[in-house]
Amino acid sequence: MKLPFICGNWKMYKTVADAVKYVKEFRSLVKDITDVEIVLAPTFTALHAAFEAARNSNIAISAQDLYWEREGAFTGEVSAAMIREAGAEYVIVGHSERRTFFGETDTSVNRKALAAYAAGLTPIVCIGETLDQRERSETFDVLDRQIKAGLDGLTTEQMGLLVLAYEPVWAIGTGRNATPAQAAEAHAHIRQRLRQWFGAEAAAQCHVIYGGSVKPDNIRDLVTQPDVDGALVGGASLDLRGFFEIVSRSRPAAV
Ligand code: PGA
Repeated sequence: MKLPFICGNWKMYKTVADAVKYVKEFRSLVKDITDVEIVLAPTFTALHAAFEAARNSNIAISAQDLYWEREGAFTGEVSAAMIREAGAEYVIVGHSERRTFFGETDTSVNRKALAAYAAGLTPIVCIGETLDQRERSETFDVLDRQIKAGLDGLTTEQMGLLVLAYEPVWAIGTGRNATPAQAAEAHAHIRQRLRQWFGAEAAAQCHVIYGGSVKPDNIRDLVTQPDVDGALVGGASLDLRGFFEIVSRSRPAAV
């Protein structure tokens, strides 16, 4: 059975010490939760320490970005193999902050996603429209373009493993989440495209999760929508009690 997938994206918050303290406390809170896939995404510097702190628990670790080359003269970059060696199982690719501030394109997203799989990491690929695009009724076109170009060349098997995060840019860090109906509409569209382009089985297996101002008080309404398989949580994952609430309220038994 496909379990809800909840990932906390810490962005550029938390030192190594903060991350370890959080994980140690959090793992005891979530130790009996076997019906949610729980992932935390610290910064690169805290990746390995967070992995060690989470060892033998039900918490997996994700990086927030990667570079597609295996190694080489690429100052400042970190490869998929290095991330895997540090203990991560997942890597976020194409977050809108990377697209906006660091020039990420659908082409680079695609190279990164393929490099992630090649190193044994599962990518969490982010897509989503800006407010302007939504207001111009371009949402579905934007999603189609991001899916087509970003996931180009993925095998059916890779597609089945994928975590695809629908994150409307206007909802990220704004406190203004998509309504459950808006999320459901976008997710239904995405799933339909995945079916069309990658086949029914892969489309059903992959997780399509929602991100953008997810909080303890709105998670349940979002995660109970058809085709919403979990959440990517930014700000609200920084507080471990709040994130524990989000994980708890995502449990199939709770929804
Ligand atoms: P937010 O961020 O929950 O703070 O809106 C979501 C994200 O950026 O993944």
